[in-house]
Amino acid sequence: MAIQKVSVVGCGLMGSGITQVCAAAGFPVTVREVDETRLGRGMDSIRKNLARAVDKGKLKAGDMESTLKRIKGTTSLADLADADLVIEAATEDPPVKKALFQELDERLPKHSLIASNTSSITIMELAAATRRPDRVLGLHFFNPVPVMKLVEVVRTITTSDEAYADARAFAQALGKDVVEAKDTTGFVVNRLLVPYMLDAVRCLEQGLASKEDIDRGMKLGCGYPMGPFELLDFVGLDTTLSIAEIMFGEFREARFAPPSLLRRMVLAGFLGRKSGRGFYEYS
Ligand code: 3HC
Repeated sequence: MAIQKVSVVGCGLMGSGITQVCAAAGFPVTVREVDETRLGRGMDSIRKNLARAVDKGKLKAGDMESTLKRIKGTTSLADLADADLVIEAATEDPPVKKALFQELDERLPKHSLIASNTSSITIMELAAATRRPDRVLGLHFFNPVPVMKLVEVVRTITTSDEAYADARAFAQALGKDVVEAKDTTGFVVNRLLVPYMLDAVRCLEQGLASKEDIDRGMKLGCGYPMGPFELLDFVGLDTTLSIAEIMFGEFREARFAPPSLLRRMVLAGFLGRKSGRGFYEYS
């Protein structure tokens, strides 16, 4: 296995989940956040997730301890410098990600891979910020990371076969199933999922049915675990809007255009579960 040591940049919802699954699979992981408060929050969520699994009898208490021991938290990028693979799961902001890729490229050994967990930013744009575009790729996990089985391994036009093979083997070593995707906005899953969620909002705007009935229809009629409005609240309305805007910018197709209602809900601060209110209310 070419990848032995892993670092994760960002310990938010996705970064903490990625850190957890890497450590649970036996990899030593250094996770970096911008400040101690955010780092503490991310580490708490990892501890809670593992403790819940112990309570349910799905994980031994000793395995929880050894998983936690493999995780080192830091606020300094310098501490990531010995990683064979860095997975970037920072905020979805292209200038922030590009600056991170540039700095990581300067600090990391030549052989190291740098991967982004971005859901919509062009990986080639991040690769171009480095002097190692052959060793930059996408590793796109799904929320909740410990539960969802898929990782999209995304190759750019410059990713080498060796880097792709190493990243694929790594994702499989985490117990995930892999889909190979080209570096086009949205990759495979969001290319199909985002227009579906946007269409659900358009159906609601047009008075086709209530949100509850649309959700019930898709759950009971298609066997989806969540209806589109439950999923929008789960993913975050602001996140969905931002992905839709990037996809519309790339493809210029009406099916990627954010519906007015979605834009207005984000302006109102109705962001989904994380803000306590989206299409539904959460106490
Ligand atoms: N973190 C870790 N584990 C979690 C979790 C979380 N946030 N939420 C739920 N789980 C675990 C539970 O502990 C439980 O584990 P167990 O089976 O070992 O007991 C299992 O998931 C099922 O949870 P629950 O029984 O509480 O609830 P549900 O059966 O309703 O499942 C769900 C919850 C797994 C979230 C399910 O509703 C689901 O699969 N929803 C769809 C999620 C989805 O589509 N995700 C992709 C979003 S798109 C994306 O991420 C891409 C991005 O780019 C936008």
